Amino acid sequence: MTSADIITVPLSRYLKEQTTSTHESLDQRIMALAPFSSHARFACFLRMQLRLHHATAPLYQQPELQALLPGLADRNRLPAILLDCADFAISQEQQEQDRLAGQAAGPKNVAQALGWLYTHEGSTLGAAFLLKQARAELGLSETFGARHLAGHSGGRGLHWREFKQALDSLPLSAEERAEAVTGARDAFAFVRTAVEELMAGQQPGAAV
Ligand code: HEM
Repeated sequence: MTSADIITVPLSRYLKEQTTSTHESLDQRIMALAPFSSHARFACFLRMQLRLHHATAPLYQQPELQALLPGLADRNRLPAILLDCADFAISQEQQEQDRLAGQAAGPKNVAQALGWLYTHEGSTLGAAFLLKQARAELGLSETFGARHLAGHSGGRGLHWREFKQALDSLPLSAEERAEAVTGARDAFAFVRTAVEELMAGQQPGAAV
């Protein structure tokens, strides 16, 4: 890709191109850690997701980002994952650890925040597959244990396309685009660290 392309390629496509291999490696790592093999393993997966939701939750409430991305506040899935954690009796102490880990991360500027949001919102696509597995192998659902993986009532694909359209309509400079890529990559790296700590590290998970 040339530097001229960086300006003309829609931001969402650019972010996808810049993170595809990272996503593939993360997706394979998560599946290799068998999150659906038991309730205890799924509890570790939930805590990993909880960290990401805590890291991004403040962004959904930020007026500057809300002005750029219509309907942003409604996309926040922190309440849903907190209910999933309650379903799985994840202890308050563990949830507090995850809240602090999430709070310590996050973007340094608006452009990086767009990248973090791209990564988190994009994960709702893979969530369709994850929900299917959680249902088939563990009996979980949009109303128990896997609420945060549920699709939007208006349709998962449409909801994602609307987010991408909003991203792509923003007049960002080349520098801001580069910052957005940094943000998207940082979000993937944050998740990877959480996966290694919580899913691979044999942390004690609550089980129902
Ligand atoms: C085992 C876990 C995962 C699986 C199986 C998975 C699977 C997928 C699949 C199949 C898609 C494409 C869906 C489509 O185009 O219709 C997708 C998209 C995406 N996923 Fe994942 N995913 C996983 C975890 C994650 C995580 C943890 C993140 C980041 C927090 C993430 C971020 C994304 C992003 C950003 C996209 C959108 C890419 C784009 O089209 O721009 N995924 N995922």
